[in-house]
Amino acid sequence: MRHINIAIDGPAGAGKSTVARLVAKALGILYVDTGAMYRGVAWLAVRNQVPPDDERALLEMLRRHDLRFERDASGELAVVADGEDITSQLRDPKVSETVSKLSVHPGIRAWLTRWQQAFAKQGAVVMDGRDVGTVVMPDAAVKVFLTASIEERARRRQKEFTDKGFDVTLQDMREAIAERDARDSTRAIAPLKPAEDAHLIDSTGRSVDEVVEEILRLVERVPHE
Ligand code: DC
Repeated sequence: MRHINIAIDGPAGAGKSTVARLVAKALGILYVDTGAMYRGVAWLAVRNQVPPDDERALLEMLRRHDLRFERDASGELAVVADGEDITSQLRDPKVSETVSKLSVHPGIRAWLTRWQQAFAKQGAVVMDGRDVGTVVMPDAAVKVFLTASIEERARRRQKEFTDKGFDVTLQDMREAIAERDARDSTRAIAPLKPAEDAHLIDSTGRSVDEVVEEILRLVERVPHE
């Protein structure tokens, strides 16, 4: 595989991680979930009772603790905090609640962006997030902005919750997503927005495989240097 970097950005519930993981698998390259990296910082903050609005305290926490992102045996990123693999704990509701509060801090973003850029330099990656095509890998060979209608995203999120045994209404999901979209798109630093050269893909009513195929076709079209 050539050293091609692929950026996939978009709002919550658009299907980024499912699609990004499959594209990486098809190409045999590393999948980097930048949301999981933000969640790793949030997990440490919850564990150590550091308030998510106190950036100085968070940066101090990152100096004291050993937070690492490592490639695991299946070619994905594992998040390791003080020697403990915490990857499976990153979707915990407490972590989800904390992460959007600390992802606004420039110092935290800079700390994680350095890690993300180091992965992109080492070899070909598929990286998904909110600011990958705009800030982390502005030179990515393929940039995708993946969206879906708010109705569809609300339905997907509701299914995720009900599969886990939580009872939530579609209306609650719709409101939560609209609120998160507004927060992510209007923040001062690295807001959610498509890069100028991003391909917009709307996954509403389309299967995962169709979207993956479309991205693989974009990769095939990248000219050889
Ligand atoms: O994609 P996710 O739900 O795992 O992301 C978790 C949070 O991290 C979300 O609130 C947005 C933030 N995030 C970010 O600000 N920039 C990224 N590149 C990835 C995630």
